[in-house]
Amino acid sequence: SAAEKGGYDYFMMKEIKEQPAALRTCIGSRIHDGDIRLDKIRLTDDQIRNIGRIHIVACGSAWHAGIVGKYVIEELTRIPVEVDLASEFRYRRPILRRNDLCITISQSGETADTLAALREAKANDVHVLSIVNAVGSSIARESDDVLYTMAGPEIAVATTKGYSTQLAVLYLIALKFGEIRQTIAPATAAKLLTALEALPDQLESLFADEDALKALAKQHADKNNVFVIGRGIDYGASLESSLKLKEISYVHSEAYAAGELKHGTISLIEEGTLVVAVATQDQLYEKLVSNVKEVKARGAYVVAIVKEGCTDVEGVADKVFYIPQTEDIFTSTLTVVPMQLFAYYTAIERGCDVDKPRNLAKSVTVE
Ligand code: G6P
Repeated sequence: SAAEKGGYDYFMMKEIKEQPAALRTCIGSRIHDGDIRLDKIRLTDDQIRNIGRIHIVACGSAWHAGIVGKYVIEELTRIPVEVDLASEFRYRRPILRRNDLCITISQSGETADTLAALREAKANDVHVLSIVNAVGSSIARESDDVLYTMAGPEIAVATTKGYSTQLAVLYLIALKFGEIRQTIAPATAAKLLTALEALPDQLESLFADEDALKALAKQHADKNNVFVIGRGIDYGASLESSLKLKEISYVHSEAYAAGELKHGTISLIEEGTLVVAVATQDQLYEKLVSNVKEVKARGAYVVAIVKEGCTDVEGVADKVFYIPQTEDIFTSTLTVVPMQLFAYYTAIERGCDVDKPRNLAKSVTVE
């Protein structure tokens, strides 16, 4: 009913708009007097100091969160991280050592492949720490430790607040582990914590672009191919942005690591092809601007998503959206939001059922 949807037409929009509050709960409840407290987990500081390798295992958007998580965890802890699709992990005889840590990520906590992967890790005596939204779900019950995303029930098939709170928990894990392993200086940790706490308000500020994104969706609703390009963490976030579009609007969309364009995808760029370029990493910004010029030269219509202040891209891209200044490792929480809104309005324009896309299920409990 309309009341259940909080006055919105679809649960997806309600859930997009719930993200600031969800992040405030997820992050805020774990920061006390400038210190991160990761609930009560069994994993000890000694175990954290001794982790040899982290295996992140998940499906769908949760796997996308894991890919961003790899960048953040490796950056802050210097622990090597592998990210696996649960359906691949469980059948490939993964190499697991006793001092490895397995992190499974699941909104529903009921995904069959993720649950099987968790059991595989446990059978190899590997500690399993899970990031789950649904309290008391199978994955939560069978894990050694659980960090709940605290996003509240998510109804729309396409995840939004589920994904952004998964990212937040991954950031908290990376920061906490980095502190314990002393791979981040206290001053840096304090700076990162401040940036983390600012994310909910910053995310909220992005809703100001809703009308512009609605207009953009109207303008491009007939496009059949969209490319989302980025480098580093922006590539990780692009995977999720691109999936949102595919899932609910049935527009074929591909996420591409911008450096790989010339190895294939650029042949698909033609007059009017929509390219979304995500460029929030200081170190990679200029390289991405060059990629934008390359696709522009082949006729693409380019929408850039960059950090506030990176105004020179205005001269290159057709349309620019800005995200507030934050630490480079946290930008995915913000860059995905304009794309959630863009996907939503594209789906509306194309007459799709936003909350219940064809052929998809919210939770896949069979193989
Ligand atoms: C389904 C959903 C996706 C979700 C994936 C993993 O395919 O449609 O949105 O990302 O399952 O779900 P989980 O509940 O494990 O996060």
